[in-house]
Amino acid sequence: ARDRAVEALTRLVRDIPDFPEPGIVFKDIAPLLADGAGFAAVISALADLGRDADGRPVVDKVVGMEARGFILAAPVAVELGVGFVPVRKAGKLPHETHRVAYALEYGEAVLELHQDAFTPGERVLVIDDVLATGGTARATCELIARCGARAVTFAVLMELGFLSGRAVLGDVPVEVLATV
Ligand code: PRP
Repeated sequence: ARDRAVEALTRLVRDIPDFPEPGIVFKDIAPLLADGAGFAAVISALADLGRDADGRPVVDKVVGMEARGFILAAPVAVELGVGFVPVRKAGKLPHETHRVAYALEYGEAVLELHQDAFTPGERVLVIDDVLATGGTARATCELIARCGARAVTFAVLMELGFLSGRAVLGDVPVEVLATV
């Protein structure tokens, strides 16, 4: 499954120069999502990261971050037969939340998680499309910890290796399908 996923990523993710600002090369996963076999291959490879050698789920929940993380994490949760939990940008979640602010290149962003999203001690697989600076990933793992659960794996399709985002994740294991 992993080989098929890597092939699909290589063929179907396109680089968009100078988006959303000059000097940034945006990794556009829209062509990958639009390809049924390619999308299925990456979902299957990500789901394998939440199973043991006998194919049993080793996580209790899958978390995805708004917005592209949702597209990947929700089908992985269904494939594993476990629940999905959204991490959202500020002001979107209706019930009581934990909030974590983190620095962007210019300014600050806030992510939120419902306080009752997990049963204490639950094991969580966290999924996003891209690991860049690691700010989003780190804030998400901190939110999960505040809820009394534990991020056991952080998985992404692509890591921008030159940004060293995994360094800010501490001891959470990082799984990457492709380094770009
Ligand atoms: C992108 C991407 C990751 C994050 C990675 O999301 O989907 O969540 O940035 O960057 P980092 O490692 O530097 O934190 P974005 O904030 O663009 O949100 P979107 O998915 O809603 O477009």
